[in-house]
Amino acid sequence: MNPYAGRVGEPSKAVLITGCSTGIGRAAALRLASSGWNVYASARQADSIADLRDAGCKTLALDVTDENSMRAAVDAVEQAEGAVGVLVNNAGYSQSGAIETVPIEAARRQFETNVFGLVRLTQMVLPAMRAQRWGKVVNVGSMGGRLSFPGAGHYHATKHAIEAISDAMRFELRGFGIDVVLLEPGLITTNFAGAATTAMTQATGEAEDGPYAQFNAAVGALTTGAYEGPMRRLGGGPERVAKVIESAITRQHPPARITITPSAKLTIALRRVVSDRVWDALMRRQFPQPG
Ligand SMILES: NC(=O)c1ccc[n+]([C@@H]2O[C@H](COP(=O)([O-])OP(=O)(O)OC[C@H]3O[C@@H](n4cnc5c(N)ncnc54)[C@H](OP(=O)(O)O)[C@@H]3O)[C@@H](O)[C@H]2O)c1
Repeated sequence: MNPYAGRVGEPSKAVLITGCSTGIGRAAALRLASSGWNVYASARQADSIADLRDAGCKTLALDVTDENSMRAAVDAVEQAEGAVGVLVNNAGYSQSGAIETVPIEAARRQFETNVFGLVRLTQMVLPAMRAQRWGKVVNVGSMGGRLSFPGAGHYHATKHAIEAISDAMRFELRGFGIDVVLLEPGLITTNFAGAATTAMTQATGEAEDGPYAQFNAAVGALTTGAYEGPMRRLGGGPERVAKVIESAITRQHPPARITITPSAKLTIALRRVVSDRVWDALMRRQFPQPG
């Protein structure tokens, strides 16, 4: 008998995952479905996840910046299962580029996706989750929520926000039988670097002789290079995060935050021990300082 399928009179353990077209979301959907969890994989473009149905997932269209799309997805799960039992807030990207070069609309879009999408979707699933007095909310943050690299300030701001929101929600929801787990992955080989570089190029339109042209170009190259160079050995594949997600939602008392990969553990530890002055000096060794 499938232990995760949900039985009459028992809370729904249906899993809703955002951003399953690629990377961590896709790996999590595949892993959880293969372990017998009742998975609703979602993506902005439903056809990008059609193949996940062959792996045992149900699929839904879900754009975390679109209220109606989120409402329809949550309604569909609740009608079929009674409640979303496990919500994995994974969808996200990096709006890279020097702060001055990112148009404010692009910065707002970054927060709409990474922060307000996560908050709004969580608000939508909570009434039914609270009613059944069992639930898990997994927020995919980042080591980038504990430090900031130049050229990705908007992204880091969203991941710092997720740290704060997760800390508050963990306290607020515990009494309803709902655990909140914050994941802090380091370098994970996915479409992340490609999406970050594309978002930067599209948004900044920095002229080749502009004041940040060399800097933004270096940010793009360093982002891509981090996933290809020797640092890659300190990272991992999306399956690594998927494994942690499964363990977090299976445990009766999961930890509040889980740092994933040596790259994340080392970088967070380094940032904690060095002063701002030393951190900036380290950054100057990697990034050309604008101006
Ligand atoms: N890779 C890393 O090194 C790393 C490290 C720390 C944290 N993270 C976090 O891990 C999460 C997943 O990223 P990933 O590494 O797996 O990158 P990825 O392969 O680029 O996947 C990102 C996913 O988010 C989806 N997405 C973007 N905007 C969306 C929206 N408005 N509504 C719904 N889905 C949307 C993308 O869908 P489309 O295909 O439709 O764009 C894609 O499925 C992100 O929150 C990221 O910040 C990644």
